Amino acid sequence: MTAQDESARSALGATRRHLSPQLALVHGMNGSGAIEARGEGARVRLSDGRSALDFGSYAVTLLGQRHPAVVAAVRRELDTLPVSTRVLANRTTAGLAEALTAWADPGRLTKVWLGLNGCDAVEAALKLARLATGRTRVVAVEGAYHGKSLGALATTWNARYRRSLEPLLGGVTHIPAQVSALPGAFAGDGEDADDGVAAVLVEPVQGEGGVRPLEPGFLRALADAAHAHGAFLIADEIQTGLRRCGPRLVSTDLGVRPDAVLLGKALGGGVQPLSAVVATPELYEPLSADPFVHTTTFSGHPLGAAAGLAALTSVEELAPRGAELSELFAAGLTGLAGRHPSLIREVRGQGLLWGVEFATPAAAGEVLTELGRNGLVVSPCLGRPEVLRLLPPLIATDEEAKEALAILDTVCAAVPDEFRPQDRS
Ligand SMILES: Cc1ncc(COP(=O)(O)O)c(C=O)c1O
Repeated sequence: MTAQDESARSALGATRRHLSPQLALVHGMNGSGAIEARGEGARVRLSDGRSALDFGSYAVTLLGQRHPAVVAAVRRELDTLPVSTRVLANRTTAGLAEALTAWADPGRLTKVWLGLNGCDAVEAALKLARLATGRTRVVAVEGAYHGKSLGALATTWNARYRRSLEPLLGGVTHIPAQVSALPGAFAGDGEDADDGVAAVLVEPVQGEGGVRPLEPGFLRALADAAHAHGAFLIADEIQTGLRRCGPRLVSTDLGVRPDAVLLGKALGGGVQPLSAVVATPELYEPLSADPFVHTTTFSGHPLGAAAGLAALTSVEELAPRGAELSELFAAGLTGLAGRHPSLIREVRGQGLLWGVEFATPAAAGEVLTELGRNGLVVSPCLGRPEVLRLLPPLIATDEEAKEALAILDTVCAAVPDEFRPQDRS
């Protein structure tokens, strides 16, 4: 056994003993016993020398693995001041806040709170909305995913993650993504401000919920209803923002004018954990009045801020490439669905966020495992196990994109009949 094999066995063993036996089983299956060893652009090298295209990583690696500009920025910060005293101002943290406001919706979203994970941003935004309005209710959308910390979980739709933990944060109403659901969503608002809605929280394209773009008309009506009722509209663009879907932000591109956008995942350039709430002064007012009303030790962490600054610049530089790749993927996936009608129900998405809906969750699971074995990493959808997410990085070459599509085609063609419940060809 080679040293690499031994280190893979040892990592899988420690995963089984100390993290989760189920995780160790899945990781072992996906890597055929090998583990991830090194990131290289659009690829991850495995401990046994094979490499896999990284078109997954739960939407974190929009700039690929170890993007040179991000790595260089983090290295500089590491050699300068990697942690903040938090009692003195920090150049990099303040610089990121300024850059985010200049990038997101200049002149309107002028305030920033920084976190590490997406759910940090969700928690901060919900607290701000409650404090700024003096109200407690939140309207979210069926199928939504906003994270699993206790507050954020109340706004996540999937019962699997909620049921055994209820009661969660009260006052959350989930509505279907239909204009006709809007009048009922705000019922109870009015006479007693305590019954009122503080915030409407929405992903413009539901990611974990199966890559489900919401109708622009619904999003605009939702925003109008929120504002008419004195509630803040919070666009959760943790997955869709930063040009993952094409525009900088899907919400502002649709003319929705959110009171805050939430960013995360790719914001740290695929190198550092980083998230942000970029908000209007009105929503941010509680933090302007008292910066200690919501704090976390690593908020504004300089290493993350350095990564974020480099990521924003790099994402903008690569935007034209994203548009080319998006076209290539749209055409490639449409062709794929046409060639495997008994297996694939639908492909949908935009930009570099694509969902392939399989006939059954078992079929999607089979394809996921086989893709891993054949050198393509994609992400499952936590709320819709029949859907696999393809998240190509902006830095992928045409050859890498075509290679990924070819692997998908080969794997789909080889799926055994028992995973094809009905022949629709
Ligand atoms: C839209 C959206 N919001 C929030 C979250 C939670 O982010 P995190 O897992 O970083 O806490 C996710 C994670 O997948 C997400 O996709």
